[in-house]
Amino acid sequence: MRPVRTIEIVANGRRYREAVEPRLSLADFLRDRLGLTGTHLGCEQGVCGSCTVLLDGKTVRSCLVLAVQADGRSVTTVEGLAGGPEDPGGLHPVQRAFLEAAAFQCGYCTPGFLLTVDELLRENPAPSEEEIRERLSGNLCRCTGYQHIVDAALRAAARPRPEQNHGGHPAP
Ligand code: FES
Ligand code: FES
Repeated sequence: MRPVRTIEIVANGRRYREAVEPRLSLADFLRDRLGLTGTHLGCEQGVCGSCTVLLDGKTVRSCLVLAVQADGRSVTTVEGLAGGPEDPGGLHPVQRAFLEAAAFQCGYCTPGFLLTVDELLRENPAPSEEEIRERLSGNLCRCTGYQHIVDAALRAAARPRPEQNHGGHPAP
């Protein structure tokens, strides 16, 4: 029998307690165990940024993080962005900006970009185009040529955003 360890994770505000193998990646845990398939896998080597999620509010490449390393911590995936307190049924402002700017084509890279832009705007609410390009330089997109993604980030920065809990506060 393979060794397992029981972990507790709050994902998108909901608490999970699961037994996992020590080598299970956070990406595979989120996708295969929790059904959060909005976290996409591209390179699985930490290069493309498709698997980006927020761990205690900070972006990580979930293909390079083990599920056991997220024990006791809070994860936000793209599924957790929408439906903030100001608009429970609606898109997150960053998502809306991507939609309005037509900032995706196939959409495979989009969840990683959304969470990266969300983190940037929480740290720096009024970034320059250069700062946006610098922050997004670790996320690869094979379709768009990036200009519309940068436009979307500028558009999102220009409008108010809700306070969202991306921290480590456990769900009730
Ligand atoms: S799949 Fe994780 S960085 Fe590419
Ligand atoms: S929209 Fe296709 S990879 Fe970015």
